[in-house]
Amino acid sequence: MATSEQGVAGRSTGAGILTALQPGGYPERMTQMGQYPPAGHVLVHISDTHLLGEGRSLYGKVPVEERLAIAMARLEAGPVKPDALVFTGDLADLGEPDAYVRLRAIVEPVAARMGAELIWVMGNHDERAPYASLLFDEPETDAPQDRVYDIRGLRVISLDTTVPGYHHGELSAAQLEWLAGVLAQPAEHGTIVAVHHPPVPTPLEVMAVLELLDQPALAEVLQGTDVRMILGGHLHYSTHSTFAGIPISVAAATCYTLDLGADASRLLSGVDGGQSFDFVHVYDDRVVTSTIPLDGFAEVTGFSSDYRPMIDAMPADVRLEQLSSKTSHLNLNEAAASDV
Ligand SMILES: [Fe+2]
Ligand SMILES: [Fe+2]
Repeated sequence: MATSEQGVAGRSTGAGILTALQPGGYPERMTQMGQYPPAGHVLVHISDTHLLGEGRSLYGKVPVEERLAIAMARLEAGPVKPDALVFTGDLADLGEPDAYVRLRAIVEPVAARMGAELIWVMGNHDERAPYASLLFDEPETDAPQDRVYDIRGLRVISLDTTVPGYHHGELSAAQLEWLAGVLAQPAEHGTIVAVHHPPVPTPLEVMAVLELLDQPALAEVLQGTDVRMILGGHLHYSTHSTFAGIPISVAAATCYTLDLGADASRLLSGVDGGQSFDFVHVYDDRVVTSTIPLDGFAEVTGFSSDYRPMIDAMPADVRLEQLSSKTSHLNLNEAAASDV
């Protein structure tokens, strides 16, 4: 779809275009717009909510519950109907029991209404005992919180990289052995591994101190398996790389962002802006991640969803002509309306 400022831009009602392009007469409905069929699975990747007990603000400045609620509201109002919501750790800033209770109260109703499974991951700010008891209704324990989910044939492994009492990450030999055992049997649609400490280098040198230790040991386990993507958090900014040849996507936080562009006088700079979450679209042959900002920006261009039935009704060649041609009714009319 054209996006130039003189293209299909403009926030009009589309009435003129609907008149110019009557859908009647188009013989078949072809709702696939491009070369790719819809993704087989859609996940939502949210990270680092850092909730506090009694609804307190983080550092007395960041209304973290409000930030999470905005993410949930945007998600529910949006077009994506996810199979699962994956939260990659630092769910609670201080591991307070009330923070987990409040987290469930905010997230569970939304997930239930959307029919999405909830997948939690431990972060270094979390505590295993309340995490196990209050998110999973299981006995309190200090054992690693590793779990496997089957999302209609897509396996998601929640892997606990935390070290009790510390902020850096580690995986024990027992955990790696368990992981290798799980991965020994491929899943129908492959596997996504969700961790808190992402095995990627970071330009924030002090954050590198808090990275996952002994990453080659994890690479050895993952190599040659059906793992298609690693999802991570912890860094509080979006970043993408590969690990053991596997794509890795790190979601920024919903609470605050670590600013990689901060003044050099700042060793570390967390800012109240740029918060986001990610969509993870899992296709047959690839995984695509996309970042959604929490901020409600003013719309300056766009299309009403009123257009959709008309566009759906067009055969592919007509659709290409109407949406791509610089001289189509649609583009000309919308260019005229672009000052709306
Ligand atoms: Fe965090
Ligand atoms: Fe963290």
